[in-house]
Amino acid sequence: MEKRLIVIIVVAVIACGSIAVNVSFDKNYHITWGNSHVKSINQGNQIDLLMDQSSGAGFESNVGYGSGFFQIKVKLPQKDFSGVVVAFYLTSDINGKGGNHDELDFEFLGSDGPPFTLQTNVFADDAGGREQRFHLWFDPTSDFHTYGILWNQHQIVFYVDNTPIRVFKNNTNIGVNYPSQQMVIQGSIWNGEDWASGGRKIDWTKAPFVASYQGFEVTACQFKSAPNKDECYISNPTQWWNGDKYIQLDPAQHKALQDARTKYMFQDYCTSKAKIDKECGINSTT
Ligand SMILES: *[C@@H]1O[C@H](CO)[C@@H](O)[C@H](O)[C@H]1NC(C)=O
Ligand SMILES: *[C@@H]1O[C@H](CO)[C@@H](O)[C@H](O)[C@H]1NC(C)=O
Repeated sequence: MEKRLIVIIVVAVIACGSIAVNVSFDKNYHITWGNSHVKSINQGNQIDLLMDQSSGAGFESNVGYGSGFFQIKVKLPQKDFSGVVVAFYLTSDINGKGGNHDELDFEFLGSDGPPFTLQTNVFADDAGGREQRFHLWFDPTSDFHTYGILWNQHQIVFYVDNTPIRVFKNNTNIGVNYPSQQMVIQGSIWNGEDWASGGRKIDWTKAPFVASYQGFEVTACQFKSAPNKDECYISNPTQWWNGDKYIQLDPAQHKALQDARTKYMFQDYCTSKAKIDKECGINSTT
């Protein structure tokens, strides 16, 4: 009896943490650039973004959101993809103006083999500069893994599969900006040679580089016009990510976060900048 209960709980937890992979890309997304470098597979249940010397490619959600639990499955290029960046992120910079804006990033920095580097960053009506880098504890090129961002009024949590790897709390009470604008979801593959490759050039003989995405279900609150913005902060059964369970990590999740940071984080803006940001210390320890 007890054993059966445990099995049921385990199944329920797995079901919550997993995303349906049979939702067609077209339902929630469209291609924004590099049309000729996109391949739709299995009736749009998988999208491959290709990069060669002529172009990379990118996609975007059809609408903007004001809160949610954003997840997608990604498989990285299997070849030496040094200099190539694969990304999944939320951004308020909808027309590509840059500058001060809100943005939450997963960026996979290409490499010629393990260890594979995942960078996260947070922009809060500013220019970001809050990079953290992790070495992934699995091979992200051999299989799909789920990358998720929880965003509600209280906290932003980055997840790799079910492990929280980063928390950015709403610390507006001590004067830290917090993302509040509508954001779209984007995915892309692009040439990051001059940005994150540590000086390594792309080996174009290995092109095309292919990043595969699955899981196009979106569990989030669509942002309506500004006066109704607070609708995305309400906790109810359809907006469960705003509920009590998601105000802060529970002790087990907190321990998982600490373990991941200790074992796999190798670069952190909180310790690598001369001027320490106000939120440093608070985000990781509470
Ligand atoms: C996806 O598959 C699940 C389980 O097989 C099913 O319940 C759901 O309705 C499917 N969704 C779509 C959009 O096909
Ligand atoms: C941040 O938290 C404050 C309360 O502490 C709340 O009033 C505000 O709406 C939150 N900001 C966002 C953008 O969610």
